[in-house]
Amino acid sequence: MARKILAAGNWKMNMTPTEAKTLITELVEKCKGAKNDVLVCPPLVDLPAVLEIAKGTNVKVGAQNFYYMDKGAYTGEVSADMLKDLGVEYVIIGHSERREYFSETDEIINKKVTKALEKGLIPVLCCGESLQQREDNVTFDFIRTQIKIALRGVSKEDMTKIVIAYEPIWAIGTGKVATSEQANEVCADIRNCLAAIYDQETADRTTILYGGSVNKDCAAELFAMSDIDGGLVGGASLKSEDFSIIANA
Ligand code: PGA
Repeated sequence: MARKILAAGNWKMNMTPTEAKTLITELVEKCKGAKNDVLVCPPLVDLPAVLEIAKGTNVKVGAQNFYYMDKGAYTGEVSADMLKDLGVEYVIIGHSERREYFSETDEIINKKVTKALEKGLIPVLCCGESLQQREDNVTFDFIRTQIKIALRGVSKEDMTKIVIAYEPIWAIGTGKVATSEQANEVCADIRNCLAAIYDQETADRTTILYGGSVNKDCAAELFAMSDIDGGLVGGASLKSEDFSIIANA
């Protein structure tokens, strides 16, 4: 079954609203007619401007985070309803930077996944091992644990709405891309894990991205692998020229 390739940009904590307007304007222009599906995930404060400019184009918009409670006394947080009301379609959940710097656990990530689904946001669920875990040969076990807990209580039907991103921590922002074989092997194992939890059809329908120093030069080779269905791109998504090449890789 053919899965469409998705080029997703994670802008992280970059781009003021003014800078974001320039970047999204360039991206919309350069990604017009792109071969792959295109998604950008700007910082929260950039969302209104980015959504406005991306409206009616092939560039979809996601958030990088939200809080799983519906509303109330959670100073500094933003809810799924707030994102939905703006017109946001996707939300990144469980990025390793959130796990590391903001102490997000698999349980918190599970709450976010189920809340996003309840509210009609598409989760881009991230997982990935550290260098130590890779060297200890526990990569597959570790990632299966992350996936199984994150998907606790998620129905087979809802699983078809989730995008998974495999991002080895040692490859994020380091310029050290996993080899296509290394990346594909883990993405294939994630698919096997989904087949075990749900069934083969559900596993085959799921979009699984690779992330970690994806750039314009390595994207095509990665995206051609059997179990890699696109990329979650950090650094290279901030350059419209580079990201448009990835959007067509
Ligand atoms: P990078 O980031 O492309 O800059 O390595 C990827 C990510 O963390 O999503």
